[in-house]
Amino acid sequence: MTVVSGIQPTGKPHLGNYLGAIVNYVKLQDEAVASGGECFIFLADLHALSMPHVPAELSAATREMVATLVSCGVDPAKTVLFNQAQVPAHAELQWLLNGTARMGWLNRMTQFKDKSGKNREGAAVALFTYPVLQAADVLLYKATHVPVGEDQKQHLELARDIAQKFNNDFCEPDAPLFILPEPFIPPTAARIMSLRDGTAKMSKSDPSDMSRINLVDDADTIMRKIKKAKTDPEPLPSEEAGLEGRAEAKNLVGIYGALTGQSTAEVLAEHGGEGFGAFKPKLGELLVETLAPINARFRELKADREALDAILARGAAQARERGVPTLEAAYRALGLVRG
Ligand code: TYM
Repeated sequence: MTVVSGIQPTGKPHLGNYLGAIVNYVKLQDEAVASGGECFIFLADLHALSMPHVPAELSAATREMVATLVSCGVDPAKTVLFNQAQVPAHAELQWLLNGTARMGWLNRMTQFKDKSGKNREGAAVALFTYPVLQAADVLLYKATHVPVGEDQKQHLELARDIAQKFNNDFCEPDAPLFILPEPFIPPTAARIMSLRDGTAKMSKSDPSDMSRINLVDDADTIMRKIKKAKTDPEPLPSEEAGLEGRAEAKNLVGIYGALTGQSTAEVLAEHGGEGFGAFKPKLGELLVETLAPINARFRELKADREALDAILARGAAQARERGVPTLEAAYRALGLVRG
């Protein structure tokens, strides 16, 4: 079992990142260690170059994201925790895979269409080739499990296509170089939606802070955001079918279930018939209870820049070493001469 995943150190991490991905980093890290496998979690700082950014903010956000991940339970003693910029093999392997990835495959990526919007011609080349770097990230360590939210599923499918084509084109049939990675997506938190619009993903880039719960929000802010969250006037249904067409209600029930470890059906069996006046405070309290200890640890860790840099330096050294065999094998498979 080899677990690999990444998170961009841009903006503030939010509940969608936590429930969609970070909770599973921790769960799979523990499973990997217990089964003699390995876990690699990295800050995707190279990916952050695909959108306009302020350099000083990127380095500060990179350190803050390390503090966040450790506060959430990612343990540098169990997980190789690092940032891409200190492990050149990611960018090197991306270049090697650029020969295998097809324009048509990248043209189908919905994230490029969403993020470039009407300004396709003005988008950074990195925004277009971004999924190839993501493929390199996971293929470099021969990932078996990739914990992500649903929005990353298409990128993982592309990584599988690239791995398959590279193996077919450049490896002996009985000695494929790359392993086809599997996305590991949580059932009730695959896609946490905005608190203001149940049809839009909760996102760091939403201009309204009321649309998301940030992991660093204090108790009052969390309660206020949940109280103000958009809902409809109907009480909660007792069965899942009753959530059909009620995106906001479905989202709040999904968040509740993800926090308690209950399925949607179980949450509704318990809370069906309750109005939002009763359900929202319970959800708010649950969120405060979950996030308060994370918040407290984050405040302690974030000030210790030296400790955070030391975690990244140690993780990067381990990652550099672990990536060498795959990278060298890829160079050789392609016929490139290495000394
Ligand atoms: P990023 O930084 O946008 O998000 C980090 C993780 O959080 C998940 N996520 C969500 N899950 C549920 N609901 C939401 N509203 C929500 N918003 C975000 C994302 O699915 C992701 O798992 N391209 C990636 C980073 C990356 C990566 C990788 C991931 C780079 N290389 C290799 C896995 C493997 C990204 O931008 O995630």
